[in-house]
Amino acid sequence: MARTRVGIINITGYIGIDLARILLRHPEIEVVSATGRSAAGKRLSEVFPHMTSADLVIQSDLDVPVDLVFSAMPHKASAEVCEPLLAQGIKVVDVSADFRVKSIEEYESWYEVVHPCPQLLKSAVYGLPELHREEIRHANLVANPGCYPTGALLALAPALSCGMFDGDIIIDSKSGVSGAGRSLTLTTHYAECNESVAAYAIGGHRHLAEIRQECRLLNDQVSEVLFVPHLIPMTRGILSVCYMRLSQEWIGQGADPQKRLVTEYQEFYRSSPFVEVVESPPATKHVWGSNYCHLFPQYDARTSRLLVISAIDNLVKGGAGEAVQNMNLMLGFEETCGLNALPVYP
Ligand SMILES: NC(=O)c1ccc[n+]([C@@H]2O[C@H](COP(=O)([O-])OP(=O)(O)OC[C@H]3O[C@@H](n4cnc5c(N)ncnc54)[C@H](OP(=O)(O)O)[C@@H]3O)[C@@H](O)[C@H]2O)c1
Repeated sequence: MARTRVGIINITGYIGIDLARILLRHPEIEVVSATGRSAAGKRLSEVFPHMTSADLVIQSDLDVPVDLVFSAMPHKASAEVCEPLLAQGIKVVDVSADFRVKSIEEYESWYEVVHPCPQLLKSAVYGLPELHREEIRHANLVANPGCYPTGALLALAPALSCGMFDGDIIIDSKSGVSGAGRSLTLTTHYAECNESVAAYAIGGHRHLAEIRQECRLLNDQVSEVLFVPHLIPMTRGILSVCYMRLSQEWIGQGADPQKRLVTEYQEFYRSSPFVEVVESPPATKHVWGSNYCHLFPQYDARTSRLLVISAIDNLVKGGAGEAVQNMNLMLGFEETCGLNALPVYP
């Protein structure tokens, strides 16, 4: 049987090339076309020497018919390329921020652009499979979540949806430098970020818009979220430590809140093959190069708080891997298809 024909837009970015790494070994699909602005006309292996086995020439535009497209373009440019594809009946997984935030006002104020096709927001599904699996199966347009929101929302979702929450959400995240993409900037210059850790976007990070949106869908009592991202001198990975006040009602429901907490988390993710509730605090190294998210929920009796540590690879579970997981659901494949690689260690 003919395999599903897939295209990658902007294969020369970090997400684009990680999509290629996963998709070129996916048993159910064929990557038939890939675009890249500055590398058009070159073989993929000329631009990325680790891709020697790939028989693909980078194009300026998708050059053959496709059934599904991944767009790994920057925001705004992404919506502009997705719109005509959707109009032709091609399914789209958009890895940019363009279709994640349902409120056009929120999107335009955080991203400081005019949305090129707001009429598509209504039909777009927020592509966090662990929260929206059934909608994703029927979607033509999936908005892949941001990398920080993926780690944070997976950490917070069980607590928000099962009566533990008593306000005051704080997310403290540390990201590797690839989170900022492949384009050169001063802050990600080796001499600027090596041997240094820095908080940034203190006044509010763009990813807050989707974090708040999804938190409020899980629990309408959520009013605000405090989110502080940090840049860490490593290539891949996001470690998020999320804090929340726990309701006295939930704490008083029975003995051993820690045991109940772990059971709630395990139960919530029972049918989610890539989320693992682990027994000791996770590290980004434990999920490196994989589509896994490790979660460590902890009850802090002294402060009546929940803290949850989550570890993901920003380019895989926070980007390309999650996008392939979404494609699998949209096309009716096994959710784990092509994503079974274990983390690389050490
Ligand atoms: N990095 C992550 O961890 C991560 C995670 C989740 C989602 N995302 C999202 O995924 C998308 C891609 O991110 P990335 O990190 O892969 O980006 P990236 O590595 O920084 O790729 C950016 C590249 O895109 C090309 N480009 C920029 N503007 C363009 C335009 N208007 N038209 C065509 N090409 C353009 C440029 O390459 P040339 O100059 O070579 O053409 C640029 O170097 C973004 O929307 C990002 O927000 C990123």
